[in-house]
Amino acid sequence: MSDNDPVRAEPVEAPALPREWVCLSAALEESGRAVGWDVLEYGRPQRAFVLRVDGVPRAYLNRCLHVPVEMDWTPGEFLDSERRYILCSIHGAAYEPRDGRCVGGPCGRGRLTTVAVVEEAGQVYWYPSRDIRPVVFDDAPQAPNAAPPPAA
Ligand code: FES
Repeated sequence: MSDNDPVRAEPVEAPALPREWVCLSAALEESGRAVGWDVLEYGRPQRAFVLRVDGVPRAYLNRCLHVPVEMDWTPGEFLDSERRYILCSIHGAAYEPRDGRCVGGPCGRGRLTTVAVVEEAGQVYWYPSRDIRPVVFDDAPQAPNAAPPPAA
């Protein structure tokens, strides 16, 4: 290699952040109330929520596509009276809870921002991403909804 050769740097992947605890599995009833927690999206505070649909926890940012506001009717209540769709409490945009896709109302063709979650051994965890990060206070991860799970 001569001094005139360009120096190529290999892209450096940021290390994946560890998953974060959200709640006990038992806190999520089928098509029931959601559990919410705080996150940072691009460094800005946002709320996220997880609910159980078809037996699977599904999580999204709590932000309507029509106007960027939180959607729940009361804390944790996102579903319509039939427990079929996520329904924004402001102007009634309806979202498919299985994938966050807008299916009616003023939310256009978009979909809610998904947050990756996993259920394991009776606990629900979320995975931070490049864009969505945990809120950290005093160098300690936030415990959003109760005491962390007991050590295995
Ligand atoms: S703010 Fe959600 S439908 Fe208008």
